[in-house]
Amino acid sequence: MRYIKLFTPALLTIAMAGFQPAVHAAGKVTYYCSAQEDWCQLMADGFEAKTGIKVNMTRKSSGETLAQLKAEADNPKGDVWWGGTGDPHMQAAEEGLTVAYESPARGELHDWAIAQAESAGNKTIGIYSGALGYGYNEEVLKANNLPEPACWKDLLKPEYKGHVQMANPNSSGTAYTTLATIVQLFGEEEGFEFMKGLHKNINQYTKSGSAPIKAAARGENTIGIVFMHDAVKQAASGFPIKVVAPCEGTGYEIGSMSLIKDARNAENAQKFYDWALSADVQSRSLEVKAFQVMSNTAAKSSPDAPDLDSIKLIDYDFAKYGSSAERKRLLKKWDDEVSNLPQ
Ligand code: F6P
Repeated sequence: MRYIKLFTPALLTIAMAGFQPAVHAAGKVTYYCSAQEDWCQLMADGFEAKTGIKVNMTRKSSGETLAQLKAEADNPKGDVWWGGTGDPHMQAAEEGLTVAYESPARGELHDWAIAQAESAGNKTIGIYSGALGYGYNEEVLKANNLPEPACWKDLLKPEYKGHVQMANPNSSGTAYTTLATIVQLFGEEEGFEFMKGLHKNINQYTKSGSAPIKAAARGENTIGIVFMHDAVKQAASGFPIKVVAPCEGTGYEIGSMSLIKDARNAENAQKFYDWALSADVQSRSLEVKAFQVMSNTAAKSSPDAPDLDSIKLIDYDFAKYGSSAERKRLLKKWDDEVSNLPQ
């Protein structure tokens, strides 16, 4: 009796505080995502459902996220950066914005994903891969009596003036991959001449890398320079988009993931990292028509996905083009010598 009497409402409240629902006990994680919006959201929801850890997600393009990491370096707000092209992840590693980690899931990954980690002192890791190319809206092309392009150099033809769109390489990893690919394919001098010629035909430099092909799908643009998987996504969604692997050969990305230095929720970020490398989670990419090649060797792939073995790929130098000095130098040169030119 005496015991029951002592158990007042105030004490009951204190006692109950120890029995919070799982979501509070599990805490939170702040997740920066640089892949496509629907995939970012699927990952956030999937992790929250699996662990009860609340996910705060921000979606920004690869170059923009790197800029955010730099701006927040003295007071980091993010915990884990998932997705986006590998070059800015490599730059973040070199600049000390991210930390080394070796996941127990590492043994399940393709060699190229581990090579990416090794060249960045394990401060990043490959999560997917995909080849660069372009796509065009077949109906818009026909309506404008334009020939079907098949090579990079076709895009310089004067008849495509105002019909080509790509992203800005400062904000977009896709567009930086384009710039670095063209320089590696044709050499720096000829490569920059190519970018200047292309500039004459560009109708808009978008912020996000996949925007040009989304605009083409809607009929608001003709040709979009994007990763081939992003063009396939539009075709698989029923839009009249034809996907091109340029005849001269092309570059590719190793989409990456990194843990942010001095993260407030470092333990949960590590849990996210391990979870994101598992085959089951990577296979879920197909639910949102993300047709990249996943880094877990057991992840499912789609017959719609571009077959990287049948595409003429260059030996993209990730260490060089992901280095801070080279990336800054190329972007400045593009700003100074290309983007300022009259069209
Ligand atoms: O998710 C689509 C995708 O093309 C990824 O393959 C790539 O890593 C990312 O977007 C690049 O986006 P952005 O060019 O906007 O940085």
